[in-house]
Amino acid sequence: MPQLVDLLVLDRRPAPRYPKTMTPSLQLPHFAQRNREISPFLAMEVMERAFALERAGHSVVHLEIGEPGAPPPQAAVDACERALRQGFTRYTDSRGIPELREAIAAEHSARSGVPVSADRVLVTSGTSAAMQLVFSLLVDPGDEVILAAPHYSCYPNFIHVAGGRPVLITTRAEENYQLDPHQVRAVMTPRTRAIIVASPANPTGAVQERKTMQDLADLGVPLVSDEIYDGLVYDGVQTTSALAVSDHAYVLDGFSKRYAMTGFRLGYVIAPLHAVRPLQVLQQNLFISANHFVQYAGVAALEQGAASVAALRDDYAQRRTQLIQGLRELGFGLPSLPQGAFYALADARRFGGDSLKLAFALLERAHVACTPGIDYGQAAEGHLRFSFAASEEDIALGLERLGKVLPALEAEVMETRASKPRGKK
Ligand SMILES: Cc1ncc(COP(=O)(O)O)c(C=O)c1O
Repeated sequence: MPQLVDLLVLDRRPAPRYPKTMTPSLQLPHFAQRNREISPFLAMEVMERAFALERAGHSVVHLEIGEPGAPPPQAAVDACERALRQGFTRYTDSRGIPELREAIAAEHSARSGVPVSADRVLVTSGTSAAMQLVFSLLVDPGDEVILAAPHYSCYPNFIHVAGGRPVLITTRAEENYQLDPHQVRAVMTPRTRAIIVASPANPTGAVQERKTMQDLADLGVPLVSDEIYDGLVYDGVQTTSALAVSDHAYVLDGFSKRYAMTGFRLGYVIAPLHAVRPLQVLQQNLFISANHFVQYAGVAALEQGAASVAALRDDYAQRRTQLIQGLRELGFGLPSLPQGAFYALADARRFGGDSLKLAFALLERAHVACTPGIDYGQAAEGHLRFSFAASEEDIALGLERLGKVLPALEAEVMETRASKPRGKK
């Protein structure tokens, strides 16, 4: 345990003063350099434009954001309401209320088969906040973090916020987007601080094999394992928690996807015991604690939400087939089926190589919202990501609307190609 004096290190340096000739100017605001490295989260950009279209009276089919169409478990809603009425509206222990930490440890142990104690759990305001804590803990300016591409849009930006450098390894649909530990080993340097694994992954739906997880863990660098889609897998595929292959892994997880609780903003990190105290100190400073009443919703979801999760998974399995068949019929390329999560990453190059332009063209012309592949890195350019967490009716309507505009977009591509002078051989 740190001594009190360690905890009370005061900054006694004098405050810097401006020279007399120089005063700060609000006309020329200065923003930190790192902001230039942070790219917009394009799934959100599309969603926000879609909301504007809806406010203007249009009906938009939402297949862009990782938003489960189903409601959260009723028990979670009831518990949240009850907690509010009981006045659970305060700050809590920065690590989370003990009941929730216990429930998370018990549920993760049961799901992964790895015993986890509650003192390794720290509750956060969404998985995103857990990510910020972990990268703040591990990454110094100039450090490197290795991850697969295509990747969840925000991973590189969290690394940039900490001053680090993302190092990307391209994975391929034909190889089920498996991350190759040999390739990871080849790009490791003394500044490598973490390897991100996401299984099942957004946007590919890929599940990493147990051997891959073990080989990655054996490289001796902490795994930061995003397990937010765990439990949403199809065709009997088995997942492996990073905790099963390493005692040094950080598991990021939350309630947004399995329990359809995106707006509750509740997540957690399961960390090695030695990392919990520094994570707690970061949490105290950056966020204080997760919302008090929302934490009771989390307890109820974990204790009573298993049937909801199973029902969601069964629905998604059917909608996966519906969406993928429909997209293939429309001419999208989908060489492999997503094994988990709820996204189809479709090759859309015959409709236009610039995925950002194409996604916005589909939004404006067909009123169907989907996410441009470039959101997931250059490796997914030319692709579009569609979510099958939407309702069956919305998926059907989205496919029908796409069918009406895609032929014109394809014709435009062919025309542009035909009018381009042929390159020298
Ligand atoms: C892989 C992945 N991790 C984390 C998040 C963010 O989760 P949360 O809503 O818990 O912050 C998302 C959201 O789409 C995601 O896809």
